[in-house]
Amino acid sequence: MRKFLTVMLVFTAFILNTHAQTIHLSNSWKFTTGDSSIYKTSTFDDSNWQNIAVGESWEMQGHANYDGFGWYRVHFLLPSAIKQKSFLKDSLMLSLGDVDDGDEVYLNGQPIGINGNGGGDDIKQGRYGRRIYKISVNNPALNWEKENLLAVRVYDSGGAGGITGSDFSIRMIDVTDELKIDTGGDMVLTGSNNFSQTIKIIPLSNKTYRGQLSISFKDPETRRKYAERFVSVQTSKSKPFTFTFKENMPMAKSYALTYTFRESTSGKALTSTIFTPYILTPKVSLQPKVNGASDYGATSGNDFLYKIPATGKQPLTYGATDLPTGLTLDEKTGIITGKTPKDGEYAVKLSVKNELGSAAKTLKIKVGNLIGLTPTLGWNSWNAWGLSVSSEKVMISAKQMADKLSRHGWSYINIDDGWEAETRAANGEIVANEKFPDMKALADSVHALGLKIGIYSSPGPKTCGGYLGSYQHEMQDAQTYAAWGIDYLKYDWCSYGDIAPNNPNLAELKKPYEVMRRELNIAKRDIIYSLCQYGMGDVWKWGASIGANSWRTTGDINDSWQSMSGIGFNQENVVKYAEPGHFNDPDMLVVGKVGWGPNLHNTRLTPDEQYTHISLWSMQAAPLLIGCDMGQLDNFTLNLLTNDEVLAINQDELGLAARQVVKTPTYQIWIKDLSDGTKAIGIFNLSEHYQTVPIDLDKMNIAKDVDCRDVWRQKDIGKLTGVANSNIPPHGVLLLKTVK
Ligand code: GLA
Repeated sequence: MRKFLTVMLVFTAFILNTHAQTIHLSNSWKFTTGDSSIYKTSTFDDSNWQNIAVGESWEMQGHANYDGFGWYRVHFLLPSAIKQKSFLKDSLMLSLGDVDDGDEVYLNGQPIGINGNGGGDDIKQGRYGRRIYKISVNNPALNWEKENLLAVRVYDSGGAGGITGSDFSIRMIDVTDELKIDTGGDMVLTGSNNFSQTIKIIPLSNKTYRGQLSISFKDPETRRKYAERFVSVQTSKSKPFTFTFKENMPMAKSYALTYTFRESTSGKALTSTIFTPYILTPKVSLQPKVNGASDYGATSGNDFLYKIPATGKQPLTYGATDLPTGLTLDEKTGIITGKTPKDGEYAVKLSVKNELGSAAKTLKIKVGNLIGLTPTLGWNSWNAWGLSVSSEKVMISAKQMADKLSRHGWSYINIDDGWEAETRAANGEIVANEKFPDMKALADSVHALGLKIGIYSSPGPKTCGGYLGSYQHEMQDAQTYAAWGIDYLKYDWCSYGDIAPNNPNLAELKKPYEVMRRELNIAKRDIIYSLCQYGMGDVWKWGASIGANSWRTTGDINDSWQSMSGIGFNQENVVKYAEPGHFNDPDMLVVGKVGWGPNLHNTRLTPDEQYTHISLWSMQAAPLLIGCDMGQLDNFTLNLLTNDEVLAINQDELGLAARQVVKTPTYQIWIKDLSDGTKAIGIFNLSEHYQTVPIDLDKMNIAKDVDCRDVWRQKDIGKLTGVANSNIPPHGVLLLKTVK
């Protein structure tokens, strides 16, 4: 009966859609965890399986922390009318959203593809990403005019899993699918709102196409359309049409920039819209200034390394008065090194001078048993390079950080998974693979720049990427890391799931992390300890007690609004656990060029979503770990990462995370108490439209007459009441700070 009803529902959907050229596959999916080849067959009865929504990970739908195999099945009808009405009558296109991580797709029991364009021929090599499959109309697996069964076997290697994203459909491949508008070229910003971009129109087949490209801008606030221009196009695979486009935008805000290519024979149009970047962070002043947190933790007797973060016209000369014995400053580089003195608090006056003047700031060096007093500011290789990370790529990022970011307090260069060999040395020591020929030399080079270096491992026998983990070699590994000069360890649960019992209890969840903590203590080096186990057992409640400096609160992030906002705006229950030396980690940043593998793309977050991302992570005192290729840092991304007033909110000495004070479906307000007695206020627009957000000062416990500052623009803006009328961009933010 139940099955009959399902079939009737599917038929109804079909009847409603007979005129449409697209078969939508968003509903009526069935799901099970586990694996069996019988699940691909049409005759298998899945009526007892769970109903599941594609678009959300399986973690969000009753399978918290489940890694491994899962199967999705859906029935649909395939009318031949869609073939007859199409212009090209060759093939169907199946869109399966984003798969996390690998997938094999079966139609009526027959295989039609594996991993789309996101990995190799083994489902376990699948990488998170968009999935598109092409099926010839003559493929015997297709049941035209009849019911079809689509079965998808998914493998999740860690973090969130399943069929996520949007666009689940089948339709005929059209001329426009045979062409791609490549908007991946840099948006080069010259000035705050003038930019140029190079785009390409690339045919995916061997045909030559002609037509017209139109380029238009729309202001999403006023809906006014600007500057439509037309260019004629001829493009082929060997000579793709390339066009460089320059524009001065009327105001410093984001405009919808739409490229439309109309192909002349079919009359069909292909469109791509991106949102233009705009700079809010003022230019760095030439006057000297010392930046960075006002306190720093270190352990007595261990190596000490700290680079004074300072901006101003070069050359700068650095000074440090009242430096405790054992530490020395290099006046030219601002790097302080030596052995950490005995326990106590040392107030050191850091200074910097150039031809325009001088500036100073007190740094409290707190020597005791707590390090990482403020959230880590650094880079991690994963969101950029995935397993394709190499020594060279790490060094490129280190040099860029030293040149462009360390002046603002950025200091860690962290190697994620993919550095380890597949077998240990004969004496059991961990060794790096051929991409990292000399780990000690690499660490020395990073230290010479005044930066710290981080590494990655798992308490299990294998990491999530299938490399060697630390299981039963914890002592040796901690010693090796210390000998190399490692300053940060990300320790990722991964295959420890095979060692721990099913449904581990709290003691079992803590155990592997306590083991490594003990070994790190013995290794006598200041190593930031970063737990990665995706929030299991409410890690925020016990991470600090086992000596972690940070703990991941979620599965893996990706560069979509759904992922970033889904994580960032749902941290309200964990924020109260942040304190100096112990922070929630909602995962790494997805700004700049990301890719999780050798091929990078511009983040899919719009510029306003990126302002939201950095603001929200800063408000929540989250570690800020840049996840892009720093060799390709563009001006917009730099503007996101070098705003000293935004970073000061993240690095505030109180170490508190913001509280969520208003939560509605379309906007949220978060408030963070700061050590100077002021408050940071993040007003976030979660809707798709410009929106004025009402501000209830009583609810926020803020005095009516308080003056405010716009933090991104670094401008005083007067009384807060006036701000209620400020129009916040879609998915954007207004980040304020009260003025003393
Ligand atoms: C897991 C983690 C990621 C990354 C990869 C490496 O998925 O959550 O951050 O470290 O493993 O394989």
